[in-house]
Amino acid sequence: MKKLVVLTGAGISAESGLKTFRDSDGLWEGYNVEDVATPEAWRRDPELVQDFYNMRRHDILAAKPNEAHRLLKRLEDFFETVIITQNIDNLHERAGSSNVLHLHGIITKAQSSLDPTLLYEIEGSDLPMGLKCDRGSQLRPHVVWFGEEVPMIPVAARECMDADIFLIIGTSLQVYPAAGLVGYVPARTPKIIVDPSGVQVSGLAELTYIRKKATQGMREVYEMLTNLRDDK
Ligand code: APR
Repeated sequence: MKKLVVLTGAGISAESGLKTFRDSDGLWEGYNVEDVATPEAWRRDPELVQDFYNMRRHDILAAKPNEAHRLLKRLEDFFETVIITQNIDNLHERAGSSNVLHLHGIITKAQSSLDPTLLYEIEGSDLPMGLKCDRGSQLRPHVVWFGEEVPMIPVAARECMDADIFLIIGTSLQVYPAAGLVGYVPARTPKIIVDPSGVQVSGLAELTYIRKKATQGMREVYEMLTNLRDDK
């Protein structure tokens, strides 16, 4: 089977009702990212950060995967499919995708504020203050904040190097190191972008740009890719 590597961002979940980051004047659900998504914010006001992510978790659990998530799952029938997502939602998993790598963490898990490798599943939508890890420190959302390391990058980069087809859906490609992953994809590999706006990608060879929303764009990609599969 050919290997399909997919990089997704907030835009794939927009039609599930979850807001993107940069489509709303730099504000995210009315907050500045520096006030809620940095280690400094956590040190300054952990309750605010915890409340903010509790609200996001609540929204995510209430949202449902859309057709774009579902079509990616169906592509597993024809391709060895690896999804690299910048999203902290679990909509790819809930659509049934079996190989999802979360670059920026996943909101349904908590991590120790002492040791980022100490992870716990969160029951329900709230992670309360006072709930501690086995080493006695407060649990925080398992989310990579601005200024923190992105430990999954080397793993994701290796996947990109092996891609026979590379698909990008709903990301502005403005946040590094995630945006730099495109640079690991071999030049000869066909690349497809699905995004309604003009994402800046200079110097990419073999690029097809589908300037549509994720669900409509993915219907076209599904047709296109099922014609490229090995057994045809
Ligand atoms: N379908 C597809 N794409 C869409 C849709 C849609 N219905 N609606 C909007 N988009 C596109 C926008 O045109 C934009 O290019 O989704 C992209 C969203 O970009 P961002 O808001 O910048 O989100 P993303 O690229 O995922 O952000 C990366 O930044 O704040 C951090 O850690 C956070 O993972 C996030 C990272």
